[in-house]
Amino acid sequence: MSQSGGWEVEINRQIQLFDKQAKRYAKPLNQNSFNYRLRKKLLQSANGDILELSVGAGTNFQFYSKDAKITAVDFSPIMIERARIRAAQETLDVVFLKANVEEAELEDNRFDTVISTLSLCSYPNPEKVLARMVHWVKPDGQILLMEHGLSTNPVFAWLQNKANPFLLKRLGCHQNRDILKLVGASSLRINKIESFWLNSVHLIWASPRNK
Ligand SMILES: C[S@@+](CC[C@H](N)C(=O)[O-])C[C@H]1O[C@@H](n2cnc3c(N)ncnc32)[C@H](O)[C@@H]1O
Repeated sequence: MSQSGGWEVEINRQIQLFDKQAKRYAKPLNQNSFNYRLRKKLLQSANGDILELSVGAGTNFQFYSKDAKITAVDFSPIMIERARIRAAQETLDVVFLKANVEEAELEDNRFDTVISTLSLCSYPNPEKVLARMVHWVKPDGQILLMEHGLSTNPVFAWLQNKANPFLLKRLGCHQNRDILKLVGASSLRINKIESFWLNSVHLIWASPRNK
C-alpha cells in the first residue's frame, strides 16, 4: 500500500471510532461535574470570532455568548450532526467544517479565540496542530486549551502507559502525551496553567508567541 493510502486508512479508522462515540459525547454535562466546571472556567473568556477545533458534539457551545461567531471543525460526520443539534438548541450561529484539523484550510490571522478541549490526545501530529493554531489566531488573540495527558504521579503515569495501547485502539485517544512539554515546545506563549487530577488534566490560557 502506498504511504498516502495507509494514511487515509488510518484517518478513516479514527473517524469511525469517533462516530461511534458521538452519542456519549452528546449527553448533557452535570453542572456539578468537574468536566462542566473546568470548561466553564476556561471558556468564560472566549470572545469574538471563535474557532473550535475538534468540536465533538458541541459540549462547549453552552459556554459561549449568544452573539459569538463560531467556526467549528471536526472530521466525524456523526459528531457534527450532534453538534448542529446542540447549536440550534443554544441558538448559536455556527459554521461547521467537516475536515481533518491537520489538513483543514482556514484563514490565517483570522480568529480572536482558538479553542481545543480534549483533542490533542487524538491527533497523529499534535505539534502540527499547535503550530496551525498559531497561524489561525490573530496576533493579539487567545488560545484556550483543556487537555489531558501523562500525570506527574508515578503510579498513575504507570497505569496510563499500561492502558495506552488498549485505549488508543478502542477510543482513538493517547493517554500518555506530555501536554505541558508539547505546548511548551510550540509557538504558544503560555499565560496561565491550572492542573488537576494528579497533573493529568490542564487548563491552559495562551497566546501566539512572536507574531
Ligand atoms: C475526545 S473528543 C472531544 C470532543 C470535544 N472537543 C469535547 O471537548 O467534548 C475528540 C474529538 O476530536 C475529533 N477529532 C480527532 N482527531 C481529529 C482530526 N484529526 N481532525 C478533526 N477532528 C478530529 C473527534 O471526531 C472527536 O469529536
